[in-house]
Amino acid sequence: MSQRSRTGIAALAAALTSLALLAGGCTGAGGVRGTPGAAGLRDPLFPKLGNGGYDVGHYGLTLAYDPASGRLDGTAEITARATQDLSAFDLDLAGLTVRRATVDGAPAAYNRAGNELTLRPRDDIPEGKEFRATVTYTGVPEPLTDADGSKEGWLRTADGAVAVGEPAGSMTWFPGNHHPSDKATYDLALTLPAGLDGLSNGVRTATRTEPGGRVTTVWHTAEPMASYLATVAVGHYETASATALGAVPVLTAAEAPVAAGSAALRGEVPGILARQVKRFGPYPFSAAGALVTKDGTLGYALETQTRPVFPAGSFDRTTLVHEQAHQWFGNSVTLASWRDIWLNEGFATYAEWLYDEEYEHVPARTHFERAFAQDANWAFPPAAPPTAENLFDPPVYQRGAMVLHTLRETVGDRVFDEILRGWAAKYRHANASTDDFTAYAESVAGRDLGALWDVWLYGDGRPDRP
Ligand code: TRP
Ligand code: ZN
Repeated sequence: MSQRSRTGIAALAAALTSLALLAGGCTGAGGVRGTPGAAGLRDPLFPKLGNGGYDVGHYGLTLAYDPASGRLDGTAEITARATQDLSAFDLDLAGLTVRRATVDGAPAAYNRAGNELTLRPRDDIPEGKEFRATVTYTGVPEPLTDADGSKEGWLRTADGAVAVGEPAGSMTWFPGNHHPSDKATYDLALTLPAGLDGLSNGVRTATRTEPGGRVTTVWHTAEPMASYLATVAVGHYETASATALGAVPVLTAAEAPVAAGSAALRGEVPGILARQVKRFGPYPFSAAGALVTKDGTLGYALETQTRPVFPAGSFDRTTLVHEQAHQWFGNSVTLASWRDIWLNEGFATYAEWLYDEEYEHVPARTHFERAFAQDANWAFPPAAPPTAENLFDPPVYQRGAMVLHTLRETVGDRVFDEILRGWAAKYRHANASTDDFTAYAESVAGRDLGALWDVWLYGDGRPDRP
């Protein structure tokens, strides 16, 4: 066979291979024939959120942001393990332009459809194999408007941005498996024009000046984090450092105009954590803090991991207690699906009631009575928010807390304390569902509590006053 015709056959073979690649009928280097991972995890409220076929272990995010233009340049290095033989898999990404994708260093074909970014590696990935997907992207991130009308994602400010991601906003600034059931550790390098401050979750491990004068800060999140708890704040911030619990570094930051006004309460972070540890057990993370932003961008506080974020107008002690309580309930013990949101908000609200009872002379029963009297708290059962629009409605917070107070009055203070601490310990850095909670509470109480759950957690309407 002449050289010329061999080249022709090779070209034909290559063409056929790429056809097969697109059709998904190829076999991998090891002879594995994979199938595409699912485009969503069938969350009852967000069916397309997250992706099947793999489990992320670590995100390495390299971001450069230019506040003047609003442009974000990013590279996401995602280390994951295949949970099936994979021919292709999705990442969630909203907006932005993908420039390049690789899997284990080899260029991967990619395709965008809605918020799904599909990567097709050259070779199929066998189940159990660890792989590294790299996506290079650019663009001006646009926030998402949620079903309830609130904004989330990358929110631009006059001189920077603040990123919040509950429930789905993190897909506006990095590609990933954005369902809370896939937690991972993070390294994030943030490059900004000189004179601007950047903050994120966890511990700042490096600060360096780049050749052109821009400044990079590097942030490490050592414990698993659901992507909705990732944050970035860019602007003119004043910071304060402290130590909590003898060993946990605390870094608080506030935008310059709200720095003086928030300094005293930021100083209370270690003291409040010390009180919460007594109630909930060991603090689950190796960093702590708070981020306070000027009002007008963020419509609510959020329990971003290790370093919750607050609009200045919501930075009060009760909200601080609430967001810190989420570090145990929500961030370490993370909901299995968004329908379990009361496991976050009911617990954090009850943490406010417990704090008031112990330190402000307001019995939890008084909060319970107030909540019981409000009609808005009975719109739906806390374990069954009907739509995504209802995720942060009063029944989730107030009636969720009422469930816990009723449990406490049923099993007694000593057993209730054991349930609260034991729950945080048993599911530390894991995910848990409402069924996991009811089963766990019954196992600690040593009795069936079905009647309590039926009425308080799953029942429609206001029951008789207990
Ligand atoms: N999870 C936040 C908290 O309670 C609240 C929150 C997040 C929220 N997104 C929201 C409230 C949207 C209303 C609307 O700490
Ligand atoms: Zn909350």
